[in-house]
Amino acid sequence: MSTVWITGGGSGIGKALALSFASDGWNVVISGRNQQRLQEVCNLSTKIRSVICDITNQDEVEQSQSEIGAIELAVLNAGDYRPGPTLDCSTNEHRNIFEVNYFGTLNCIHAVLPEMKKQGGRLVVVGSLAGYIGLPNASAYGPSKAALISLCESLRAELQDSLVTLQLINPGFVKSTLTDRNNFNMPNLISAEQAAIEIRRGLQGDRFEIAFPGPFVRRMKLIQMIPYRLYFYVARKLRDRNDKRR
Ligand SMILES: NC(=O)c1ccc[n+]([C@@H]2O[C@H](COP(=O)([O-])OP(=O)(O)OC[C@H]3O[C@@H](n4cnc5c(N)ncnc54)[C@H](OP(=O)(O)O)[C@@H]3O)[C@@H](O)[C@H]2O)c1
Repeated sequence: MSTVWITGGGSGIGKALALSFASDGWNVVISGRNQQRLQEVCNLSTKIRSVICDITNQDEVEQSQSEIGAIELAVLNAGDYRPGPTLDCSTNEHRNIFEVNYFGTLNCIHAVLPEMKKQGGRLVVVGSLAGYIGLPNASAYGPSKAALISLCESLRAELQDSLVTLQLINPGFVKSTLTDRNNFNMPNLISAEQAAIEIRRGLQGDRFEIAFPGPFVRRMKLIQMIPYRLYFYVARKLRDRNDKRR
């Protein structure tokens, strides 16, 4: 049976995906930094094993890839998030988010892609709808996901006619330890299990982008197209509404 490597598989979307693949008979390897959390997921299925791997450390990522061996599917899902106004996050905090979300994912791509180009496979990167446009209180996170989206667009173009299918997953709000940090109303919030169902459905085809949930995706795509004047008007309304709720 095929093997899937899921980074950040100890919690949230990664955990839900790991359990979904395992229940379909896949050999699942999950990775992350928190050994206890990874072990708890492994205890739920004999099809799941784990490796400790901080994706910001390129040597660790390369080492993990050789430990894991051949894979048919890599889901580069590990990520970090810090909400709040721009000046509430130090430059280092902004940099750390980028280190995980962008450079950490890039480390994994460098580790898995060369072999995948020879053997074939599917490379899946978890971005975010927050990468579509600069949202208030998301300036540490949004740019890292916007950069990932751009990276995937370049890579998909480069990989055309190769043996590798690259797909980008752009979720809206999903209940997890990351969104537990939000103190505002999250429209169209879904569970990690629902997110896993959407992702598995998307992975059955080869569309470049797997974005969900539908109603929130449509709103975000519309916002992306409207003129800046109108966008900043809407953004101010949203900010004022959330300020009143607090
Ligand atoms: N939740 C949402 O609404 C939402 C929306 C759009 C996109 N996303 C994206 O979905 C992905 C999964 O997030 P989630 O919501 O499921 O949150 P989560 O439960 O907090 O999962 C994040 C995972 O990333 C791992 N991780 C963080 N830093 C890491 C590092 N340096 N090296 C290796 N692993 C690291 C964590 O494991 P360890 O702590 O064990 O390292 C954790 O398992 C992220 O990329 C996130 O940006 C989430």
